[in-house]
Amino acid sequence: MEIPENSVTALIGPSGCGKSTYLRCLNRMNDRIKAARIDGSVEMEGTEIYDPNANLVELRKRIGMVFQSPNPFPKSIRENISYGPRKHGDINKGLLARLFGRDDTEQEGELVERSLKQAALWDEVSDRLDDNALGLSGGQQQRLCIARCLAVDPEVILMDEPASALDPIATSKIEDLVEELSKDYTVVIVTHNMQQAARISDQTAVFLTGGELVEYDDTDKIFENPESQRVEDYITGKFG
Ligand SMILES: Nc1ncnc2c1ncn2[C@@H]1O[C@H](COP(=O)(O)OP(=O)(O)OP(=O)(O)O)[C@@H](O)[C@H]1O
Ligand SMILES: [Mg+2]
Repeated sequence: MEIPENSVTALIGPSGCGKSTYLRCLNRMNDRIKAARIDGSVEMEGTEIYDPNANLVELRKRIGMVFQSPNPFPKSIRENISYGPRKHGDINKGLLARLFGRDDTEQEGELVERSLKQAALWDEVSDRLDDNALGLSGGQQQRLCIARCLAVDPEVILMDEPASALDPIATSKIEDLVEELSKDYTVVIVTHNMQQAARISDQTAVFLTGGELVEYDDTDKIFENPESQRVEDYITGKFG
């Protein structure tokens, strides 16, 4: 599959067909599973990500991930955003910090504001950044997780059914956000919801049983005139 940058690629297919497993190959998350065996190749801008010398921390910074159920850290909203950049050293202790032994809170503040604005959450939380993130609603928590992912300045965002645990209003906020983000980021999103794939994606990949990628094309083509009979049957609800 060739995944074009700055677009939304949807992965669809029946439950258990291997969508999440495939998605997790794209930033080597399956490496964490002892029994997993992977072959083949995944390249990002011509560089093999399965190169044994690849730096996994750097890789997962460039290719971020948002999971099905929101998983904020049990920390404040602010700390959820600044944790990653601090770990990666993107929030530097500036001159003032060095002279007076203070953290660079100004830089942190800007980053927190920018990330929350990008994730369309700023207006709802700007007056309570030091509250615990677990007090937010599910939809807000998921947008916080997206903001947390954006804060380390990724190029690719992998999303595994990011809206499946949310109500319709929160879902449509996430959908709008995905479309907006694809102007600046490359989004690969797993979804169970075919209408959602049709609404928000530019390309769609259809997986059927056993992790088989059956068809990959422009979303309009997949939904209006797929090549494969099996894909047509799946899309029209004859099975799956
Ligand atoms: N290419 C593959 N080869 C072998 N096993 C696979 C492959 N892809 C997935 N599996 C196995 O199939 C099972 C289901 O995979 P996975 O969770 O990725 O499916 P899914 O499409 O995300 O399902 P759901 O829609 O329910 O989330 C897992 O046990 C996984 O290890
Ligand atoms: Mg899955």
